[in-house]
Amino acid sequence: MKVLVTGGSGFLGRAVCAQLAEAGHDVRSLSRTPHPRLAALGVRQHLDDVRDARAVEGATAGCDAVVHCAARAGLSGPVSAYEAVNVAGTRNVVAACLRNGVPRLVHTSTPSVVFDGRDLEGVDESQPYPRRHTTAYARTKAAAERHVLAADSDRLSTVALRPHVIWGPGDPHFLPRVVRRARSGLLRLPDGGRKRTDTVYVENAAAAHLLALPLLAPGSPVAGRAYFLSQGDPRTVRDAVNSLLAAAGLPPEERSVPAGLVRAAAAVVEPVHRALRLAGEPALTRGLVDYLCAAHWFDISAARRDLGYGPFVSTEEGLRRTAAEIGRVPAVGG
Ligand SMILES: NC(=O)c1ccc[n+]([C@@H]2O[C@H](COP(=O)([O-])OP(=O)(O)OC[C@H]3O[C@@H](n4cnc5c(N)ncnc54)[C@H](OP(=O)(O)O)[C@@H]3O)[C@@H](O)[C@H]2O)c1
Repeated sequence: MKVLVTGGSGFLGRAVCAQLAEAGHDVRSLSRTPHPRLAALGVRQHLDDVRDARAVEGATAGCDAVVHCAARAGLSGPVSAYEAVNVAGTRNVVAACLRNGVPRLVHTSTPSVVFDGRDLEGVDESQPYPRRHTTAYARTKAAAERHVLAADSDRLSTVALRPHVIWGPGDPHFLPRVVRRARSGLLRLPDGGRKRTDTVYVENAAAAHLLALPLLAPGSPVAGRAYFLSQGDPRTVRDAVNSLLAAAGLPPEERSVPAGLVRAAAAVVEPVHRALRLAGEPALTRGLVDYLCAAHWFDISAARRDLGYGPFVSTEEGLRRTAAEIGRVPAVGG
């Protein structure tokens, strides 16, 4: 297939591009910045913006499928920026597929679309969207997912995949933050890190996108549906963090900080960061605290049944593959 991967230069997008290229597909990517790994894979890179409808239409022309990974992630910043990329950008992708007759669209969503600050324990895809989300990211990703699933039709088959906390070699988000904070002695476990959470190894999340592609057809059981993805092995935040620290050759973190205290700190840090117009994300946001203090684990039996998904790379194997990478995390940064 000729496949366009939006956000192909990103953490997950690169893994999707690599697996597609290895499987013999003709791969293009669309993102604003190039990535040398994509060039090495022979991926044609469209350096464009999903907010630009004409650019998206141009990149999708002649494609058999689109994998829409591009998104604005993060837990701070203007709501309008999340709206523009996650909602308007996704609308552009759907419109471009329809205009160009692209028959398949795999959309990368997130379990955050059903998170309202309360524990999510073993829920499946029948969990409804909440009336209120805790972050602009979650709200805009939910709007995007709903749009993609509503667009499923005889002309365009769509599916939404919801990987939870993607990690592995090349992770620019979760892993370097945890390692840097541990090395600087600033890492603490909110509420003892006792809530259970799912995570997913990057190659497993990418593999699910490839599994979904050929299954997409009008009336297929996966069309118009959303699927949670994880390692199928929920662990406490404490265990998950300490596994990564062990892979980095660092001692386990046992120091806890009460949820109420972190919440109070976030209520100060976040507005001060904004008022001083400091660069980057605040060290603490209310959204992050809500997230870290709630359980997030999911029933992935639908993905196993309908997509043939499994956590093909075990958590232990993923940690082994990630260990070398963690050693290279620089001492300074966000
Ligand atoms: N990482 C996780 O734990 C996680 C968990 C659940 C769901 N997800 C979802 O998985 C997807 C990929 O996440 P990720 O972790 O790989 O994020 P990432 O590393 O930040 O990659 C995001 C990608 O989107 C592209 N992008 C952002 N804004 C764009 C724009 N305006 N136009 C074109 N491209 C744009 C980025 O490229 P440029 O900046 O160069 O344009 C980059 O290629 C997202 O949809 C995210 O919501 C991630």
